[in-house]
Amino acid sequence: MTSSPQRILSGIQPSGMAHLGNYFGAIRQYVELQEQGEALYFIADFHALTTMQDRQRLPQMVRDLALDYLALGLDPNKAVLFRQSDVPEVCELTWLLSTCTGLGLLERATSYKDKVARGIKPRAGLFFYPVLMAADILIYGTNVVPVGKDQVQHIEMTQDMADSFHAAYDCEVFVRPEARLVQSAAVVPGIDGQKMSKSYDNTIAIFAEGKPLKKRVMSIVTDSKGVDEAKDPETCNAYLIYKLVATPEQAAEMAQRLSAGGYGYGDAKKALLQAIDERFGDARERRRELVAQPDYVDDVLAAGAKHARRLAQEVVGKAREAVGLRGAPVGDLRA
Ligand code: TYM
Repeated sequence: MTSSPQRILSGIQPSGMAHLGNYFGAIRQYVELQEQGEALYFIADFHALTTMQDRQRLPQMVRDLALDYLALGLDPNKAVLFRQSDVPEVCELTWLLSTCTGLGLLERATSYKDKVARGIKPRAGLFFYPVLMAADILIYGTNVVPVGKDQVQHIEMTQDMADSFHAAYDCEVFVRPEARLVQSAAVVPGIDGQKMSKSYDNTIAIFAEGKPLKKRVMSIVTDSKGVDEAKDPETCNAYLIYKLVATPEQAAEMAQRLSAGGYGYGDAKKALLQAIDERFGDARERRRELVAQPDYVDDVLAAGAKHARRLAQEVVGKAREAVGLRGAPVGDLRA
């Protein structure tokens, strides 16, 4: 008997320019995993509404993220790429899950607490965010969820919600998902040494280039050690980012130079700038080509939505039956 392939799923919010934390923590894994199973990746536009409410900008931000995914190596022949909002069944499953999700579980969500502490209004959608995320994962029968460390709690909550649903309705509808992390990039630091995050304004955008990129890299925070002094690479933010972008040999060389002294933080930043240009040069080129083919991007998203929706409807049908509703609503127009 052959075992069925792993189903892999993950998503990114289109709430700002994708950054090196998104790339090294998540997107790089997506590209690797599309070779290893049935991969589905989406643009979490429903989730983005919890923090950004801008009808004018949202469509472009969704498109930008689609371009980023494709330019960075996501291959529509190997992975399914779609917009979260093209699968409205995910909201239906969110509701069904919420009927057996304890408030205490949601109250423990650290990302909710962080966001509220940073001044984001504590609206119901923000509080419900993890239930929508659980629905995203469970609706596709996902086995593996490649993410950075900040999302791990949400995946554990997803496991809990699936268990509660199974217990409440005495059924076995969902697959148990597991998080997948790349240890060396589980928390990519930003230019100030905190976790790189759109909300901390400490990111380096993957597709920044030229002057804006230079400005960003040169503003990486360092201590005040002079050029001649020996420096600890592990406390040098430029090195910590360089280590991800450059080759292991290049990283070892920079570490050695910093430790020896005679190599300044400015030198490290220049090397980082060059490494970013080298690492993402081809992707920038591909992205420019893709910008000129808007129909292609639309077609990829439309095909992805069709595929994802078919999978989602199957699982939602089972969940509806499990709770005692009809498998599909009356008047359902599904083919
Ligand atoms: P988002 O948009 O905040 O981030 C997208 C992915 O990038 C990872 N990431 C990082 N990894 C390492 N270091 C960093 N500094 C860093 N910053 C971001 C995140 O861990 C994530 O993997 N809730 C999700 C979107 C989502 C989702 C899902 C993900 C919605 N539904 C279902 C997986 C499965 C989010 O806001 O990610």
